[in-house]
Amino acid sequence: MNPFGVARLPREVFFGKGQSAAVGLVAARLGSKALVCTDERFASTDAFEHIMVLLTASSLAVDVYGAVEPDVPYENVSSCVEHARDFAPDLVIGIGGGSCLDMAKCVSLILSHGGELRDYYGEFKVPGPVLPVIAVPTTAGTGSEVTPVAVISDASRTLKVGISSPYLIPAAAICDPDLTISCPRSLTAIAGADALTHAIEAFTAVRRDGDADLAQKHVFVGKNALSDHFALLAIRLLHKSLERAYADGSDEAARADVMMGAMAAGCAFGVAGTAAAHAVQYPIGALTGTPHGLGVATMLPYVMAYNRPAAQDEFGEIAEAFGLAAPDTSAEERADAAIAEVARLFSAIGITSTLEKLGLAQDKLDWTAEQAIGIERLIKNNPRAFNLPAMKRLVRAAYDGDMEGLRQYL
Ligand SMILES: NC(=O)c1ccc[n+]([C@@H]2O[C@H](COP(=O)([O-])OP(=O)(O)OC[C@H]3O[C@@H](n4cnc5c(N)ncnc54)[C@H](O)[C@@H]3O)[C@@H](O)[C@H]2O)c1
Ligand SMILES: [Fe+2]
Repeated sequence: MNPFGVARLPREVFFGKGQSAAVGLVAARLGSKALVCTDERFASTDAFEHIMVLLTASSLAVDVYGAVEPDVPYENVSSCVEHARDFAPDLVIGIGGGSCLDMAKCVSLILSHGGELRDYYGEFKVPGPVLPVIAVPTTAGTGSEVTPVAVISDASRTLKVGISSPYLIPAAAICDPDLTISCPRSLTAIAGADALTHAIEAFTAVRRDGDADLAQKHVFVGKNALSDHFALLAIRLLHKSLERAYADGSDEAARADVMMGAMAAGCAFGVAGTAAAHAVQYPIGALTGTPHGLGVATMLPYVMAYNRPAAQDEFGEIAEAFGLAAPDTSAEERADAAIAEVARLFSAIGITSTLEKLGLAQDKLDWTAEQAIGIERLIKNNPRAFNLPAMKRLVRAAYDGDMEGLRQYL
């Protein structure tokens, strides 16, 4: 088979301890008036003050919007746009968790092209380049610093919505693991588990014929030779160090591995896409308010068990990346070892094990399955096909904690 690969990445990625000190020089190359989007928490830290000093020292005029809310409510974006309009920035810096980075992307989009955020929901709706965005993550999870995606909460829609366009990829990502040291254990676990889910769903995504139209017509093209490289890097690093970062948040080496893993997972899923675990989280999040990373991670072992007949070889490679592929084991045994290890790791970092424990009501199982299967861009990316009965079976098993039943579901 001829290798097919797609990479869509920031122009610059700076990774490492202390790299956030480069923000002034990086920004000065991209513009002279910077809008900074962050949240109340980060705006009150010494690290934020230091970044402000660096920006001013590089002769930038700076305007701060310090009220980004988790999960980026629609009105929050409008309020940031109104705040920034008179200042008329020529670049936008997002500093914080995925919510702050996604806010920076949305504001840059509206300031560049006008209209309403709703005009751009879906894929390839952004008509052209947007103001350059510098993304400085303080969580290690979403990968938003390198992805073409912004996720928002629109109260007029039941499910969260996404804007996906290569134009939304930040111009520069500055990843400084020191900024993640303050993440409490639950945030470390949830964000890191989101990243491992991105990597595994990208690595096991459907593989398509790479004709010349594919990447021109789709933001997410499925598994490919380049995304695999990033996905495996993420899988190795997150497996090696997520548990350690969770157990001891001050472990700098573990924090760095997890942040690199989350970024690499973003490089992978930003082109390959994610699949069923993400699809089911959309209705779960809407019904229960479960954080994104927690919901996708609860689903992942079940989705892997369902996908096993279609992704056995990939699961074998994942077992190898986990260091669990003994030479005398069969392909089935390796696949099972990979699934069991993901379930073990997630349990060790406190990820909820069933949809029932996430608070899903039993009479919402069918609705959850119907909504999930309607998210076509994610479902069509799953390696094993779905029909409604199969999706209902997956959701039921994830509710009951029935991994074995799902494994037998052929
Ligand atoms: N754009 C993408 O590619 C992409 C991918 C996956 C998820 N997302 C979206 O990203 C959002 C979630 O982002 P997130 O998980 O990074 O969390 P977040 O940005 O929503 O932040 C969650 C909380 O953690 C706090 N926090 C952030 N960094 C911290 C730190 N270093 N120390 C202490 N507290 C800190 C924040 O102040 C906030 O209270 C969701 O809206 C999700 O849908 C986007
Ligand atoms: Fe995710």
